[in-house]
Amino acid sequence: EPLIITDKDDMRRWSRSARAQGKIVGFVPTMGYLHEGHLSLVQECKQHSDLTVVSIYVNPGQFSPNEDLSTYPLDFIGDINKLKNKAGGVDVVFHPKDLYDYGKYDGVVNARSNGLEEGKVVSCVENSGQGHETWVRVQKLEKGLCGSSRPVFFKGVATIVTKLFNLVEPDVAVFGKKDYQQWRIIERMVRDLDFGIKIIGAELLRDPDGLAKSSRNVHLSPEQRKKLISYWDSASQTWSMELNLQATSISESLFHARTAAQKGQVVCRELKDLVIKTIHEAGGKVDYAEIVDQESLEVLDEIKSPAVFCIAVWFGNVRLLDNVEIAV
Ligand code: PAJ
Repeated sequence: EPLIITDKDDMRRWSRSARAQGKIVGFVPTMGYLHEGHLSLVQECKQHSDLTVVSIYVNPGQFSPNEDLSTYPLDFIGDINKLKNKAGGVDVVFHPKDLYDYGKYDGVVNARSNGLEEGKVVSCVENSGQGHETWVRVQKLEKGLCGSSRPVFFKGVATIVTKLFNLVEPDVAVFGKKDYQQWRIIERMVRDLDFGIKIIGAELLRDPDGLAKSSRNVHLSPEQRKKLISYWDSASQTWSMELNLQATSISESLFHARTAAQKGQVVCRELKDLVIKTIHEAGGKVDYAEIVDQESLEVLDEIKSPAVFCIAVWFGNVRLLDNVEIAV
């Protein structure tokens, strides 16, 4: 049975006492609705620690008012069961109610009197008038890729991870390479601000059909994942089934691009065009497709150093992230 902690001070007390006893505290931050991707992070974490804390907190600070905060899936009881049965147990689940409620602010301050310009993109926290005004920014790394289409996202992530680090006080924390830019941003933040926490990047976990595991996948219809179309094959005079790749076209085309790059096709424009075309034909709308340096995340024209192909694609109203590392 994991200990469920909801109070900030209780969390810090637990951690300080554990560390005072010489225990190495490992930490896996999540927004819940756990799947095997999250559970693999827990396994990884256990390799590096004596005690494991998983946080479950849907952070309003990383959503903007027009994003899917209100429809973000929740299943706290299911999550606890998965942590018990599938991850081989964790020691603490930190499940705070509202990390921006400082208990001092009464009522909602509207955007204008809060000093926010109209039309400026703000996060749900800035919009709520809770008086929170301190943000952590990782200036260059937060700019491209997901940062372009989600301008408040990474300052919300860096800020909540800072808050969680200050409450959980872990020795080690694990982030998934599924969110490649997020992992690199946290690594840089920890280095730049001397957090003294070891950051581990865990491999991206996929479903058997190749789709990167994500809490958002529940919003995909079976047809949006993969579609079988039967058609009359006039050459063989029989009915045939054709696989019309949909969301699985993302990973398929990325793997294809990686193979092509490793065979010497290193011009990024060509690799990107191929991926974009394949996904477009499968019914996806590409938000961005970039090949970047693995550390600086700077956009590459040619793959000469370790690179990563990062992509975000809309299928209907579901935004899917994926990436493959390309070592040349
Ligand atoms: P969430 O989307 O719940 O993801 C929690 C962690 O699980 C992240 O480190 C993410 O990269 C990892 N993860 C998700 N799917 C994965 C997969 N298929 N393979 C490997 N790892 C995977 O990321 C967040 O929450 C939030 O931004 C958070 C860091 C908790 C801050 O609010």
